[in-house]
Amino acid sequence: MSEFERVMRQLEQRPALVHPAEIIKLKQLIAEAGQGRRFILQAGECAERFIDCQSELITEKLKILLQISLIATQGLRRPVVTLGRLAGQFGKPRSDELETRDSVTLPSYRGDIINGFEFSPAARRPDPHRMLDAYQCACATLNWIRALSDSGLTELTALRRWTLFKEKKASSVFQELQERIEEAVAFLQVWGGEKPSPTLLNRNPVFASHESLLLPYESALTRYSEDTSAYFNLGTHFLWLGERTRDLHGAHVEYLSGISNPLGIKVGPSMTPDELVALVRKLNPANEWGRITLITRLGHQRVADVLPRLIQAVQAEGLNLTWSCDPMHGNIVRMSDGLKTRYFDNIMAEVLVSQKVHHELGSWLGGLHLEITAEDVTECVGGDVGVSEDHLTLNYQSYCDPRLNYGQSLELMLRFCDSFKTLTQREVVSANSISPRRKELAPCTSV
Ligand code: PEP
Ligand code: CO
Repeated sequence: MSEFERVMRQLEQRPALVHPAEIIKLKQLIAEAGQGRRFILQAGECAERFIDCQSELITEKLKILLQISLIATQGLRRPVVTLGRLAGQFGKPRSDELETRDSVTLPSYRGDIINGFEFSPAARRPDPHRMLDAYQCACATLNWIRALSDSGLTELTALRRWTLFKEKKASSVFQELQERIEEAVAFLQVWGGEKPSPTLLNRNPVFASHESLLLPYESALTRYSEDTSAYFNLGTHFLWLGERTRDLHGAHVEYLSGISNPLGIKVGPSMTPDELVALVRKLNPANEWGRITLITRLGHQRVADVLPRLIQAVQAEGLNLTWSCDPMHGNIVRMSDGLKTRYFDNIMAEVLVSQKVHHELGSWLGGLHLEITAEDVTECVGGDVGVSEDHLTLNYQSYCDPRLNYGQSLELMLRFCDSFKTLTQREVVSANSISPRRKELAPCTSV
């Protein structure tokens, strides 16, 4: 038996990481996001690293997800489904097979689940044992997140504990929101004469997701559920199909068509409406709500041109699905020294144009898909935090794509919410020409 086969046998025997009931619950929540009643925040690392599998760093990841989800809940007037790019986001598709440095050429880094980041022949050799390490890190990450949730961290009353370790205090906008919510909770307590019930204060769990890329790993964690008579990937809750592996007749689509998890499909600018419809039909033959989330990543220059045609095709075919926007992957630029970056303004432009196009076509943009970190990195240029091109090398840690740092992530969600408010207020004003007092209330009453 080869080493690869030995690893596969071991992985196949390991316990599942999540339960089918959790996956079914998530699918239901995504279905509601598709129908305009929820919003999905899917965010986290571009490439998770084994060295970051540490309690403090995982806690920080959870806290930034909670902070942004809270901003979105308040700003969009909808409950937010929090879906981390974590506990399995270890494999990376690469545009270039090879990397050359100082006339030495080696295989590209493909994520910690396949090979090492260090630029040496030994590190870059694929090693099947890395799949066991990935399983171990995914397991530890999920376990710690569940422990933190069970300890009450995700409850509204624990809001003060959501402040990041590295920030002396929360950003001023978040702090203000914190205070307002604490006041509201205190008011509820006085009003009801007792602490509000846990169901009111608690939230849905934080779910996990990653790209379905390394098929042996995904297959080893795919299990049959007797209760539901269906196959599930029980290594995570949600999987997405990448832009480079979405061939209708390819192995990745074939694999995903056989499992019952909710699926994301990355949609790049070269996708035609016909291709999109065929792919969605193949992956969701029963036209079930919650099964498919289309994650458009069109780039700020193409979005206004491409997105309307895709939305119209989905509407014309009556496809039941959820829309999300990934403003990250269509907006990568390379600096002269080879470093990859993204401009905050371009990311923001894609988000706001997508939001507007959906709104104008009567479609609900039900989610955002972001690459973020709670760390104070300098990987994306711009934002109020003022990262310039010259700052990029100061704290660039990503092994793959540049992520929004803490300040940039919060700013993006705040501006998204502001723009939502403007769009929906404008609509109410033109429909009713109502009094200013009524105008203020309009976004809440529309939910
Ligand atoms: C990613 O999400 O990390 C990624 C590689 O995206 P895409 O497939 O859209 O390029
Ligand atoms: Co990426």
